[in-house]
This record gives sequence, structure tokens and C-alpha cells, in this order.
Amino acid sequence: MNARPWEITADLAVVGSGVAGLAAALAARELGLRVVVLTKDAADAGSTRWAQGGIAVVLTDGHEPGDSVARHVADTLTAAGGLAEPATVETILADGPAAVDGLRRLGAVFDASGSGGLSLAREGGHSAFRVVHAGGDATGAEVERALLAAARRPRASVPILTDHVSMDVLRLGGDSGPVGGLLVCDGRGRAGVVRAPAVLLATGGYAQLYASTTNPETSTGDGVALALRAGALAADLEFVQFHPTVLYTGRAARGRRPLVTEAVRGHGGVLVDAAGYRVMAGEHPLEDLAPRDAVSATITRRLAATGAQCVYLDASAVGDFADRFPTVFAACRLIGVDPRREPIPVSPAAHYCCGGVLVDVDGRTGVPGLYAAGEVARNGLHGANRLASNSLLEGLVVGRRVAHAVAAELACPRRLVPVCLSAAPLSAPMADRGLVQRAMSLAAGIGRDGAGLASASDAIEAASVDRPVVDRTGVEDAALTLLAQAVLAAAGTRTESRGCHVRTDFPRTDDRYQRTSLLIGLGADGAPAVRSGHEIRVGAA
Ligand code: SIN
Repeated sequence: MNARPWEITADLAVVGSGVAGLAAALAARELGLRVVVLTKDAADAGSTRWAQGGIAVVLTDGHEPGDSVARHVADTLTAAGGLAEPATVETILADGPAAVDGLRRLGAVFDASGSGGLSLAREGGHSAFRVVHAGGDATGAEVERALLAAARRPRASVPILTDHVSMDVLRLGGDSGPVGGLLVCDGRGRAGVVRAPAVLLATGGYAQLYASTTNPETSTGDGVALALRAGALAADLEFVQFHPTVLYTGRAARGRRPLVTEAVRGHGGVLVDAAGYRVMAGEHPLEDLAPRDAVSATITRRLAATGAQCVYLDASAVGDFADRFPTVFAACRLIGVDPRREPIPVSPAAHYCCGGVLVDVDGRTGVPGLYAAGEVARNGLHGANRLASNSLLEGLVVGRRVAHAVAAELACPRRLVPVCLSAAPLSAPMADRGLVQRAMSLAAGIGRDGAGLASASDAIEAASVDRPVVDRTGVEDAALTLLAQAVLAAAGTRTESRGCHVRTDFPRTDDRYQRTSLLIGLGADGAPAVRSGHEIRVGAA
């Protein structure tokens, strides 16, 4: 990296341009704050635009008869396996209708029902039709489009610096002071500093730890790594959610694989094996509409027992498939499958990280001035298993809350914009990305055991070399290596099965862990470790 040639100042620096980052940036502009958004790739290259199913919300007008926010809360808590924080769930979901209304005012267009209201879908774990969607199964793309368009309008005029990767969160007064900004590297390899008393991490998850995922290549856990290095804590990292129905494109399928939205099952699709037997029959009271962890675990067991590579989603009962699910339809046609007539080959793949940077409901970490929102964060909404389509809602709601929290903080005179920042050159352990992905897929997918987790950790440690972090590849490789060790440590410590954390050597839930999240911080050696004696009682964080 060359000498530092540039410097900018803002009240709030937002890292990431997905739903949470843009919602925060737009709200902050409304509140009169100077905002800058930084993203390491193109503005729409994150995971938001790949979201299919939609936004789970109980609309004020036009919800299914009998549905209520209280039912949505109950479904979320049930899916979360005891580890969600009820107060967090209630407050975030209660803000949902206003957040969706606000998005519609910004120009987002959702699919209408025949009666003039919004069309509602149902997904796994939901007891009602309450998922609003756009373009059939292209909700994330519409959300991203609408937010980006709003950010670019002269009225908001949010600067979005693309191809700018954030290398380090800078703290004033050494390691103990409040946040003072970010060290950034632009696409030409030039370092720069964004001076800002508030930094929001909205970088998405870390599903690229796995060889096969629904996520784009940008989901490398950068935000969790930045937060841990800045002294914040992370929690629930072991809960990596595998989506049950990801298009199976052959044995060598690697990298981002196309999602087949759960809404297909909400519209009557059923999972069958090669012989046509129902996969979910007798496995869960909700059968094909069971929460995602249950469906993925059942499929995984079935594949292990039969040696098959995939199961099938029979969508022949879904009317108007091509119109209702155009994205899925196009992906199926690319592999020569016509879902109107033939079952769709599917298998689970890494999809969503339920844990992340430990924050409160306004996105505050334990480091003054550092915030996190969206998939990068753990605020207690998802617990051990996220309910389908709660994440776009979370990004919208918590993004806005962060803006309000920052505005309130900046109104307080003790938080002055810093004048003196220094940035030491960074170096971090990095292992080969392919090796990390293979090790994690083998040892830390659905069905983990203590021996496998330990040997994956040893293999990654042996392959790790301390290198200077000078560009985007370095940031990502360092983040993936750190996150792999953090997930392995948490998964090894949680000697039970709960939600999307399935241990073959501890197949049952253990009441001792019923209300306990595992916290991860960096040790004096810079390595991630579960803090012994640092478990929290959920609700008391
Ligand atoms: C889906 O459409 O099945 C995915 C929705 C989600 O992950 O929330």
C-alpha cells in the first residue's frame, strides 16, 4: 500500500451498501448528518440483492386475518431455539410495518394481490402468509434498487465510494478510546483515512467460509473481523444457517449457487427423494414448512443415509411457476430442468450467519462510536436459527435506529470529531481461501463433532501465515481465517445441538445452554477465543 494520499471527514462512515447500510445512510441524511458509504465492490454487489423470498412483516392494513405482530414474534422465538432475546424481537418486529411503508415511499414496488393490497407469501416457520415480495422472487434486487436510487437522488445525495475496502477501525488514544474513523484502501491501492466519530459496520455475513453457498463472493466476514480487532465482542458465531433448497448443479458445484426460495414450498412445493417419497413426512409437525434448521438437518441426514447428492423439490402443484418465481425458473432452465414438469434437484448450502458482532437494538457495540447492523450483527433477533425473511426487515429497522442513535450521540458535546489519528501497518494470519472453505465444509457444516472441529482448526492454523494486509484480497483472507477459527472455537465449545448448530457427538439440546450465547473476543495473541466465564444471560446483555 502506498503512502496515505487522501482523507475525508464525515459524521457517520457506513461500511457496506446493502439494506442495513443504505437504510442507515438515508436516515442519517434526513437527520442532517454528513454520511459516507464505503463498499469494497460495486454498490449492489453484496448479498441484499440476492434475497428472494421477501420481507416478513405484519402489515397494518392487509395482513392475513388472525395474524398479528405477537404471532410473528412467537414464530421468530420458536424458530430461534431459545436463544433470541424476546425484547429485541418484539421491538424490531413492531417497527416492521413503518419500515416497509418507508421503503415504499422511497419507491420500492412490491407485488400486489388481486384485491389491491400486497400479495403475501408463506415460508418455513411462519404460521401465516406474511412475506411481502417483489418481482415474484426478486425482492432483494428491488430493495437494493430502491435504496440506491434514493441515495443517489439530489435530495439525499449520499456519497457511495465503491471499490474502497475498509482495512481497520481507528480508535482515538490507542486501543481504549472511542472510534475516530477508518483506514481505507481504494481500488488503486491508495490508502486513505475517513475521519468519523461514528462507524457503522454493515458488511453482511461470512458464508464464504463454505465451499458452497447462496452468498456472493463479498460475504467474507470483514465486518466481524474489523469489530473484533477494534476490541468489540461477537456472539452466536456457531449458528450458520444452511438453506435447505439450493439448486443442485452437480457434484463439482462450488461458490455461489442459486437459491430456490422457501416460498415455493409456501405455495405447495414438497420435498421428495429420488424414489418420490416425501422427505419431511413425519419429521416435523409443519412438514415442508418446518423452520429452516429442521428441514436442512432432515435433508442432510437423508443424503448421508442414502448416499444421494440431492433431494428434489416437486413444484408441479405450484400454478404459474414461471411468473411467480421467475428467478428460480431461469436458474432451473439453465441446468435444463423445467420445474413445471420435473422436480428441482436441491441440497442445503451455507446461507445466513445468525451470529455476529454483539450489539444492542440500536446497533451499538461495546466500543464507543462503533455500530453494526444487518447480517454482520448479533442483536438477539435470530438466536440459534433465523426465521425466513426476517433479515431484510432487520436491516431496514436497525439501520434507521443506528442513524438515530448516532445523531443523539453527536448532539452530546463530549463527542468531538477527532483531530489526531495514527494507523500502524497491519498484518494478520491468512490461510489459503480454498483450504479454509474445504476444511469448514467438511468439519463445520450441518453435523459437526468435536474431533472434526479441532482438526479443522489445527489444519487452518498450520496453513496460516502472517502477512501484511495491503489490499482487498488480504482483508478478505485475513477475515476468513479469523472467522473460521472463531466459528470452530464456538462450535467446539457448544457441546449440544441447537438450531442450526448440529453436533453429531452431542445430538440433543442441553438445558444448561438454553439461555446462553457464547461470546468471542480476541486474546492477547490476536487469536479469537471463547471467553471463559463470559457467557451472557440472554436478555441481560
Ligand atoms: C428464501 O427466499 O427462501 C430465503 C429467504 C431468507 O433467507 O430469509
